[in-house]
Amino acid sequence: MDRIHELDWEPEEHGDERPSNVSDNRSFAEVVEARLGRRGLLKGALGTAITGLFSSTALATLGREAAAAAGPVIGFTPVPVSTADTVTVPPGYKVQVLIPWGTPIDGKAPAFSLDNSGADQAKQVGMHHDGMHFFPIGGSSTDGLLVVNHEYVEPRYMHKSAVGKPLTSDDVPMGPDGLRDPDEVLKEINAHGVTVVRVARGDDGQWKVVADPRNRRITAATPMEIGGPVRGSDFVKTKYSPDGTRTRGTINNCAHGVTPWNTYLTCEENWAGYFVNRDKVDQKPDQPREHARYGVPTEKSRYGWDLARGGADEFARFDASSKGTSPIEDYRNEPNSFGWVVEIDPFRPNALPVKRTALGRCAHEGVIFAPAVPGKPVVCYSGDDARFEYIYKFVSAKPYDPATASGALLDEGTLYVAKFNDDGTGEWLPLVFGQGPLTRANGFTSQADVLVNTRLAADKLGATKMDRPEWGAVDPGTGLVYFTLTNNSRRKAEQVNASNPRAGNEFGHIIRWREAGDDHAATRFSWDIFVLAGDTKDSKDKAGKPLAESAIFACPDGLWFDPDRRLWIQTDMSEDNLYEGKLVPFGSNQMLCANPDTGEIRRFLVGPPGQEITGVITTPDQKTMFVNVQHPGAHTSKEDFAAGKLGSQWPDGKGYPRSATIVITREDGGVIGA
Ligand code: FEO
Ligand code: CA
Ligand code: CA
Ligand code: CA
Repeated sequence: MDRIHELDWEPEEHGDERPSNVSDNRSFAEVVEARLGRRGLLKGALGTAITGLFSSTALATLGREAAAAAGPVIGFTPVPVSTADTVTVPPGYKVQVLIPWGTPIDGKAPAFSLDNSGADQAKQVGMHHDGMHFFPIGGSSTDGLLVVNHEYVEPRYMHKSAVGKPLTSDDVPMGPDGLRDPDEVLKEINAHGVTVVRVARGDDGQWKVVADPRNRRITAATPMEIGGPVRGSDFVKTKYSPDGTRTRGTINNCAHGVTPWNTYLTCEENWAGYFVNRDKVDQKPDQPREHARYGVPTEKSRYGWDLARGGADEFARFDASSKGTSPIEDYRNEPNSFGWVVEIDPFRPNALPVKRTALGRCAHEGVIFAPAVPGKPVVCYSGDDARFEYIYKFVSAKPYDPATASGALLDEGTLYVAKFNDDGTGEWLPLVFGQGPLTRANGFTSQADVLVNTRLAADKLGATKMDRPEWGAVDPGTGLVYFTLTNNSRRKAEQVNASNPRAGNEFGHIIRWREAGDDHAATRFSWDIFVLAGDTKDSKDKAGKPLAESAIFACPDGLWFDPDRRLWIQTDMSEDNLYEGKLVPFGSNQMLCANPDTGEIRRFLVGPPGQEITGVITTPDQKTMFVNVQHPGAHTSKEDFAAGKLGSQWPDGKGYPRSATIVITREDGGVIGA
């Protein structure tokens, strides 16, 4: 097996994936250099280059919006940027806080408190809400199962032992013996994963948790099946599962997807840092490529779960160093059972979640389905959110039949990776063992190998390196696919190009494409840029004009089309540089609403300090919207934390800040956004 010894990475802020793409694939920049010429790019002709992209081949090809007239109605008054410790919404709109971290999922005990144990947390809503879906019960718009991802935890807000200590948002309380308290570790593990909780609107108009047998927590310890081509392969055989069919838990659940058969998909994003592989040869890290290409740490894990005192198996498994004489005597393969898309059926509480390995292994942000058409393959898209990583598409082998459709459709099919050509066209390159360069001569031994090493396979195919692909969304009217590219501070001037057109890209952009023949299973597409985010000077809307004060934003992340084709955009400026430098004009993270046809954008909501806005869904009648506020107060410095000076106390107005879902309605009971 290939080994990669020296990667050019250093620890990143707050668990963002380390850049680990050492392939020499042309970056988007190089592609555009070929298209536009180095001289033009370096001599400041970027504006011209971008305008060209907005208006020439790509847009002419994409221009389906011409048929859609003026697009959806956006009827609210935009809100200004803000740094207030509250959620700001337009006049005529209301906000209710629902299920903050620690809420009992049975509506009863144990109530939230800093004294909660690891076992208590297993019966409470997890921390740091992210992607989310509302599954109506019987089509209701007032009663349904809310399914919420929990991306990560901030241990300093979780444990009594952390009170008064100078801890950053990533630090953990460590014992004097260099080990961690096992119940604190269990609490963190149980605060990860997914919450399924029934919520309903009461006669008073307030939404409440409803006790229900379907309410459950899926955590970083829940037993799961491994499905698809990797199931049973040597890559996932461990002490826990010697036959390679099971693993425990899902971690760093960022965004999500909803299948055409009404199940929930949760995506494992920045999972690599939870492990450590200390194997060394001649003092140098000696990791298999399926660890190294994903940035599994070589010295210490993010939270030190592997260092829980007592060394219980459920914690020790986060140490992926070789210890036994074979892989089934240790957890050297444990990281290989992470980095997947995981299917959960919220209506079958006893069904084990299944890792759908045919969709590839990466830092999956989310997964978004094209509308399912009976008799045609099922198609879904997923971004690999790390600097210079790729956008993928899965096309099922079997056609969609609404009567029989199930997760089995996701176990068999073709995974593709995107290549954006310099003429505004693009290609989907298949990750199929034995095809093209994915052969034994190049170190691949099976389809399971290709999938476990998805990034390396994509490197070999010559995929295009992107500025951190986050959420995608499919326009229900035109079928165009939109993706956020949140930022990439490391893109150098010589790497810029049309699709990632800015060096040191601090603001991000939104790209979109149209599949050839409007067939989502097609292997060719054409693309353009929908908006370059930024301030009133350094931004460009769809018409090529700078964004107005009421529309400026940075670091787009969450993205969702409502049924009326309003495009909702959520931002995630890192807490490390919020309110600093070029990000000052944007205030706190926010949500905006865009018209895909006219390109108009209006700011709809601003959250409290330190948080990101993420996750959005409405009830079927579109009169109730659920949105998540993740990690309020995360920007609080370690000194301020020790002194009890918190950067936010949202939503309680006292004590520690807590991630929560908010419920947005209109005072006149109307459709959200209209
Ligand atoms: Fe978890 Fe890429 O945002
Ligand atoms: Ca995200
Ligand atoms: Ca984030
Ligand atoms: Ca993000």
